Amino acid sequence: MSHDIPGTRLFDGDQAQKGVGGISGRSSQRGEVRMARIIGGIGTTHVPSIGKAIAEKKQNDPYWKPFFSGFDYVHRWLARERPDAVVVFYNDHGNFFRDKLPTFAVGAASKYRNEDGGWGIPVSRAAAGDPALSWHLINALVADEFDITMCQDMLVDHAVTIPLALMWPGGGWPLRIVPVEINTVQHPLPSLARCLELGRSIGRAIASYPEDIKVLIVGIGGLSHQLDGARAGFVNKEFDQLCLDQLASEPDELIRYSIPQFVELAGAQGVEFLNWMPMRGALTGKVTQLHRNYHIPISNTAAATVVFESGRSPRCAPRSGVAARKERPDERSEPSLA
Ligand SMILES: [Fe+2]
Repeated sequence: MSHDIPGTRLFDGDQAQKGVGGISGRSSQRGEVRMARIIGGIGTTHVPSIGKAIAEKKQNDPYWKPFFSGFDYVHRWLARERPDAVVVFYNDHGNFFRDKLPTFAVGAASKYRNEDGGWGIPVSRAAAGDPALSWHLINALVADEFDITMCQDMLVDHAVTIPLALMWPGGGWPLRIVPVEINTVQHPLPSLARCLELGRSIGRAIASYPEDIKVLIVGIGGLSHQLDGARAGFVNKEFDQLCLDQLASEPDELIRYSIPQFVELAGAQGVEFLNWMPMRGALTGKVTQLHRNYHIPISNTAAATVVFESGRSPRCAPRSGVAARKERPDERSEPSLA
């Protein structure tokens, strides 16, 4: 495989390791190159205690069941859609980025080891990377004037591994990942508008990636919560619901909030919602909310799980049989939102 993009040719060795995911590019019988397409987006949370609950098999305990049951639909949807790669927007908690914290960082490694100092969570297996897709996204982001940090060696913390374990609970992750870190912990933070545009840039880049793969977009964090200070334990269900509603139907409405306003309304750590903005921004066409689960609290955090289906252009028709197998949206889902 080759791409006429600076950077990608340097990683033939890593690309050979793409066999980890068992995926390779495909062309049609007529020789035309099929581009990658985004199947949809998932937003969910990464509260560290979820990792402990998984390790201790507490998914059906009364405290945890309302949260974990929100993934029943996610599992069915992923089993049907079978993405080849996932772009994960998340915030690091000081496990990889310590004294130097980039506003935006994109992984370009062939694998990502898990490290979670101090959280008491079992260490997860390494996740397979996709250097070719990473470099394609990096080149596109820089061309769009995003001054990102490129990470050819990158640890990932629970903000990446817990969502993977929630989405694929069997212990194996059948796809390659591209982690995209967003600073939500050290002010000044990027604006909601900038994060939305980051996602739009990545969405355009994926649409121009000359590989016939299906890409999932994931945004990880929150929702409302504050872990310390005078407002410790603060959650705001009404604001969370407004954010989820507008994220689905009119995400540009959310950029009216400044970071200080968002902290006031969602709590000091509620700004992890910044990770949800590029997830939505990457989706194109008619976006449909297929599923939503909202639960309070998990460790003083409001936890939401949302599935969006991305619109499909005529050139990106479903593969044979996909449409016929499509099931009805979950009964807890909201009506389709344009
Ligand atoms: Fe967090």
